[in-house]
Amino acid sequence: MTVLIAGCGDLGTEVGLRLAARGQRVVGWRRSPERLPTGIEGVRADLTQPLPPVPADTDVVVIATAAGGRTEEAYRSAYVDATGNVLDALERDGVTPRRVLFVSSTAVYGDFGGDWVSEDSPAESTAPTARLVKEAEDVLLARTDHGTVLRLSGIYGPGRTRLIDQVTGGSAVLPQEVQWTNRIHRDDAAAAIVHLVLDVEEPERMYLGSDELPVDLGEVLRFLAAELTLPEPPAGGASGGPVRGGARRVDSSRLRASGFSFTYPTYREGYRAVLAGDGVRHP
Ligand SMILES: NC(=O)c1ccc[n+]([C@@H]2O[C@H](COP(=O)([O-])OP(=O)(O)OC[C@H]3O[C@@H](n4cnc5c(N)ncnc54)[C@H](OP(=O)(O)O)[C@@H]3O)[C@@H](O)[C@H]2O)c1
Repeated sequence: MTVLIAGCGDLGTEVGLRLAARGQRVVGWRRSPERLPTGIEGVRADLTQPLPPVPADTDVVVIATAAGGRTEEAYRSAYVDATGNVLDALERDGVTPRRVLFVSSTAVYGDFGGDWVSEDSPAESTAPTARLVKEAEDVLLARTDHGTVLRLSGIYGPGRTRLIDQVTGGSAVLPQEVQWTNRIHRDDAAAAIVHLVLDVEEPERMYLGSDELPVDLGEVLRFLAAELTLPEPPAGGASGGPVRGGARRVDSSRLRASGFSFTYPTYREGYRAVLAGDGVRHP
C-alpha cells in the first residue's frame, strides 16, 4: 500500500519517515523532490498544475502544503486550489484512498476572548487567509467521505525557534496582559497524523492538534529565559507580536480520546527537547 504526501515539507517528511518505518511505501509530491530523504520516493509535482499519476494502490493521502507568503493569492493556491487538484487527480486516475487527511490550522477560529475552542466551535475567523484555509477544508469534506481534517496550532520544534531566538537575542518582552498561546511539537503533529491515518479505524471528520496546555506567552518566555540561564525578559509589550487571529485556548481532547498520547504534552518538555538539539528540521 502506498501513502501519498502532497506538499511534502518539514511536517510531511516527518510523517513520511514515520510511515516508512511502519512498512508503508511513501511517495512525496513537491516542487523540489530532490530535497527528500531516503525512505520517501520524491516525485516532482506542482499542486497548482496538472498532477502526475497517482499510484494505483494509494491507501492514504496526506495534504500538507504551506503557502509561500501571507497573501490571499498564496493561500488560495496552496490550500484551496491544491486540495481541489489533488482530489481531481484521484478522480482522474480512479483511485479511492481509504483516508485523505488535510493538515489545517486553528487559525480558522476567530477571537474567543481566551475561551476554549473545540472541533464543534464555529470556525469563523474573519482573516482572509484563515477563510481560505477553511474553504480548502470545506472542499475536502464536501468532495470525499474519506476526508479528515486536522487543525494544528502553532508548530514548534527542531529549527523552529522563533521564541528562543527572541529570548537569546534580547528582543523578548513579557506581555502586560495574558496572551494565550497554543502549540504542538512538530514530532507530535507528525505522530498524530500517523495515528489518525493508520491506527484509528473510523476517524471523525475533524480533530484539533494542540498540546495539553494552552499557556500565557509570558510564562513561556520566562521558562525559556530560565532554561537558558538568561535574565527574565523585560515587561511591557507584546513580544510575540499581536495574537494573530484572536485569543483562544485549544482543546485537543478528541484527539487524545482517540488513543493518541503526546510525547511533549506541554511546552516544557517540547522546548527542553528543542534546546537539547533533538531532531532536525527537514528542508
Ligand atoms: N507553521 C505552523 O505553525 C502551522 C500551524 C498550523 C498548521 N500548519 C500547517 O502545517 C502544514 C505543514 O507545514 P510545514 O511546516 O511542513 O511547511 P513546509 O515545511 O513549508 O512544507 C510545505 C511544503 O509544501 C510544498 N509546497 C508548497 N507549495 C507547493 C505546490 N504548489 N506544489 C507542491 N508542493 C508545494 C513545499 O515544497 P516545495 O517548495 O518543494 O514545493 C514545502 O516543502 C501546512 O499545511 C501548514 O498550513 C502550520
